Order: sequence, then C-alpha cells, then structure tokens
Amino acid sequence: MERKKIETYFTFATFSDLTLNDQQLISNAISSMNFAYAPYSGFNVGASLLLENGEIVNGNNQENIAYPSGLCAERVALFYAGAHFPDIVINTIAVSVSSKDFKIDDIVSPCGACRQVMAEYEEKQQKNIRVILHSPNNKVLIADSVEDLLPFKFKSSLLKKY
Ligand code: THU
Repeated sequence: MERKKIETYFTFATFSDLTLNDQQLISNAISSMNFAYAPYSGFNVGASLLLENGEIVNGNNQENIAYPSGLCAERVALFYAGAHFPDIVINTIAVSVSSKDFKIDDIVSPCGACRQVMAEYEEKQQKNIRVILHSPNNKVLIADSVEDLLPFKFKSSLLKKY
C-alpha cells in the first residue's frame, strides 16, 4: 500500500496587490453580484469570466421558491459562456460574495457542483482556468487551475466513446 499526499497551491493576496486586469474582473463580479436574485438565502454571489477574445461574461446567483431550481453565480456565467461562446477559451473566473444578513470575514469557495462544472470546461478547452475568489474585506485567493480546487475530479473522458 502507498499513501500519497497531493499538494495544491493557492496564492493569497489582497485586492490592491492584483494587476489592474484582475481588479477589473473582480469589479465586474461585484457589479454583477448586485443583480443576484437571492431572497431566500440573503447571500449574493457574482461571477465574471474573462474569455480569450477579451469578452467578459457575468453571472449571479438566481434562486427560486422551489429551492433546488435556482442556480449558483458561477454556473450561470459558465453556462452562458458555453451557450454563446462555445469555442472561446475561458482564461479566468473571478467570484465575489456579499450579504446584508451575514458578516463574511473569509474567502468563500465555490460549491462542489460549480467546481465540477468549471473542471469540465477546463478539461474541454485543454487550458487552465485561473480562479480568483474575492471576499467583502478584499481578501483574495488565486488558483492557477480549477484542478487545484478539485483534485481527483470525475472526468468526462471516462464516459466518452470516441
Ligand atoms: N452560491 C453561489 O452562487 N455559488 C457558490 O459557489 C455557492 C453558493 C449561491 C447559491 C445560493 O443562491 C446561495 O449562494 C446560498 O447557497
């Protein structure tokens, strides 16, 4: 038997440490967050994608009284990009959160379902997607690849016939 440790690396920073491009993407995520429809959780999330052609795609969480019918901000943005720009590489996703009901002191990490979806787009485009997570108090975590957030992901290649 063998026990192996899988290491992943994250960069921890504050908003002001970032490049202007990354700051701009986070600012987009924050603006988008203000259009979240989150009356049940009171937890607003915004996600902005920077595509390789320079296009920015924004999304925010959309809830529903039939709770599971809603969708997270990340998947709203990713599915929009998949629907409108299917062949354009996604360079970066920035995610920001806020709540009028909760105090959020730390970085909030995307849910498992969003990581799985991000991971599959990363695999599909065969190029890393950078992930930038931003908290209301301007803490930032950067992962160079979705793989870092979801090691041992379920791979779509397992189901491919050709
Ligand atoms: N939410 C997101 O938008 N992204 C995540 O990664 C985690 C959770 C949303 C879903 C729901 O509208 C609210 O946050 C509370 O779970």
